Amino acid sequence: MDNRKIFAANWKLNKSPTEAQAFVADLKKHIDVNKYRVFLFPQNFSLSIVISECKNSHIEVGPQHICEQVGGAFTGENSVVTAKEMGSQLVLIGHSERRQYYGETDELVALKIHLSQKNDVLPIFCIGETLIERESDRTYDVLKKQLMIGLDKADKAKPIVIAYEPVWAIGTGKVATLDQVKATHELIHEIVLNMGFNDTKILYGGSVKADNAQSMISLPYVDGFLIGGASLQVDSFLAICRSV
Ligand code: PGA
Repeated sequence: MDNRKIFAANWKLNKSPTEAQAFVADLKKHIDVNKYRVFLFPQNFSLSIVISECKNSHIEVGPQHICEQVGGAFTGENSVVTAKEMGSQLVLIGHSERRQYYGETDELVALKIHLSQKNDVLPIFCIGETLIERESDRTYDVLKKQLMIGLDKADKAKPIVIAYEPVWAIGTGKVATLDQVKATHELIHEIVLNMGFNDTKILYGGSVKADNAQSMISLPYVDGFLIGGASLQVDSFLAICRSV
């Protein structure tokens, strides 16, 4: 992967196809993809229109989750093969909301990472500790376990993006301090390097806004951000992209 910073928008269960299309039409007029990469994660019903709106723009797009199976009797699920055929280049895997509300385990995450890499769809693999885990000094162990199990079936020769999102900072307005982000990103970098992964990027996520992005983006091993709330408006998303 090249050295451009990555700004990834996780729209969660927001933006209808019409709203998503309007967002992209506006975004395309202002972004500078020579300076940074833009990833968009719409909800699945809006995926198709976002992909078609992003054609030839160098904005990369993908779903917020995929099934650990590629096809068959799995009612309600979505296949990475179909996502790829539609034009998805990326997929978000293991977001803490998927883990918390839909019971996704590290083992399930590992299957999804394996499947996305096998289909040449870039996985954005989310990890992060809860407040209780941080306050009881278990952050290192929790992240190490998520990385060891989650990457267990991953192909070391293929690129992977890790998104470090402390669960207590997601949607809460509480951002990790610069020291916490620095220390944790160094730790993650060291763990994945020791595991033999050379082509990785590490994003920070959790209440990222323009005013905190500026100081975080220059920290070592902060290769960009995964942004929820502030990615829903073109202006606030662009203000973060302009932190580079
Ligand atoms: P937030 O969400 O920026 O609203 O905290 C980040 C995420 O969940 O990816």
